Amino acid sequence: MAYQCVKGTYDLLPEDLYYFEKVETLFRHFMNLYGYREIKTPVFEFTGVFAKENDTSDMVTKEMYSFSPNGKDSYTLRPEGTAGVIRSFVEKKMHGSNELPVKLAYIEEMFRHERPQKGRQRQFTQMGVENIGEKNPMIDAETIALGYFYVRTLGLSQIEVRINTLGDADSRIAYKNKLIEYFSQYKEELCFDCQNRLEKNPLRILDCKVDHHLDIIKNAPKMADYLTPVAKEYYKKVLGYLDAMGIPYKIDDTLVRGLDYYTDTVFEVVSLNPESGSQSTIFGGGRYDSLVKEMGGPEISGMGFAIGVERLIILAKAEGVFDEYKPSTDVYVIDMTKGSDYALEVATILRNNSYATELNYYDRSMKAQFKSSERKNARFVAIIGEDEMNNGTIALKDTKDRSQRIVKLDELIDCLDSILEEENV
Ligand code: HAM
Repeated sequence: MAYQCVKGTYDLLPEDLYYFEKVETLFRHFMNLYGYREIKTPVFEFTGVFAKENDTSDMVTKEMYSFSPNGKDSYTLRPEGTAGVIRSFVEKKMHGSNELPVKLAYIEEMFRHERPQKGRQRQFTQMGVENIGEKNPMIDAETIALGYFYVRTLGLSQIEVRINTLGDADSRIAYKNKLIEYFSQYKEELCFDCQNRLEKNPLRILDCKVDHHLDIIKNAPKMADYLTPVAKEYYKKVLGYLDAMGIPYKIDDTLVRGLDYYTDTVFEVVSLNPESGSQSTIFGGGRYDSLVKEMGGPEISGMGFAIGVERLIILAKAEGVFDEYKPSTDVYVIDMTKGSDYALEVATILRNNSYATELNYYDRSMKAQFKSSERKNARFVAIIGEDEMNNGTIALKDTKDRSQRIVKLDELIDCLDSILEEENV
C-alpha cells in the first residue's frame, strides 16, 4: 500500500525549508528588535482553551481537530497560537513575575479543517506575537509596525495594511443591538449559519463567506457610528501613531476578523499581487480585552498578530525576493583509492575543523567524481590517489581560480584558511 500526504498537508522538502529558514530567521531578528521572547506551547490543548462558550467563529465551530483518546477529556490540535500563549501566561502567572507588558512570540504549526486550496492548508505555520498586560494605543501601532516593517524588510512591496476598530465593550453592545434590529428584518435572506449568528454574535454576519455579497450586508449599519468617545479617541491615537511611523493604511470599516476575541483595533495586511489569488491576507491580528480573564487570569488586555508562513513564502517568491536555492559544500573529496581509511580521515579532519565536506562513496572514474563535485557546488576539491595516500598529502583544487597544489595533511586546514582569508581581504 503506497500512501500520500493527508489532504491539506504537505511535505516540506529541503528547498521548501530553505525559504522557511529565511523568513523565520528574519522574524526572530524582528522579535529581538522589538523585545519579544520566543515561547513554544504544546501542539494540543484542552478543547476549552480554544472553544469558548457561545463562540461563533468558523474556526471553533467547524474547523477544529478535536479528539478524546480516553473518551472523557477532549483535546484539540491548536488552530491558532494566541489562546495557548494566553493559557500559558495565566498558568505560569507571568503577570506577577514580569514587568508588564509581557512580550511573547512564536513560530508554530497550526491545524484547521478548512477546504484546502493555494495558500490555505489544514496544517500550516504561523509566526505570531502577543503583547500582554497593557492597553495603550502606542502598543497597537507598534505591533502593526513590527509586522509591517518585517514584511517590507523581507522584500514585499505590494502590500496594504487594512485597519478597523471594533470599539470598547460599550460601543459593541450598542452596535450589536443595532445589528440585531437591522438583520432581524432580513432574517429569511440570511444563510442558515447567519440566522444562528443573529442573536449570539451578529458582527460575525458581516464576515460571512456565504452572504458577503448581499446588499443587506453591504448596507448594514457601520461600527464607526456607534463608537463611544473613549473608543473613538483610542482609535484616533492608533492611527496617529501609524502616521508618525510613516506606515500607510486603509481604513476598512467592514473588517471584523474571523475570531471572536477581538476588541478595539483589528487589522490585516493583504497582498495586492495577483499571484495571491483568493488567499491574499498575509497576516492579521488585533487587540483582545477579555481573553486573559476568560482563561482565568486577571482583567488585562493583549494585542497581537500572526503571519501565515506558507502564504508569505508564495508571495515572496512571486515578488522575486529570494536568492536561488543552491545548496553547496566547502570541500568534495575525490577518492581514487576505492574507499581507503585515508579518504575518511581527510573528510573527518575537514569536518572537525568546520569545513562542510562531501565524500565519494562509489568506485567511479575521476571524471564522474569531478562531475559530482560540480553538482554539489563544491568550493574546493580534495583529490586522493595512491600517491597522496602513501605520502600523507592531498591534491587540492581551488574551483574558483582552477589552481591545484599538493598539500600535506597536517597543513590542509591552514592552507584552506589562508586561501579564504586572502579572498575576504
Ligand atoms: P488568523 O487571521 O486566523 O488569526 O490567522 C493569521 C494568518 O494565518 C492568516 O492571515 C493567514 O496568513 C494564516 N492562515 C490562517 N489560516 C490558514 C490556513 N488554513 N492555511 C494557511 N494559512 C493560514 C489568528 O490566528 C490570530 N491568532 C492572530 C492573532 C494573534 N490575533 C491576535 N494575536
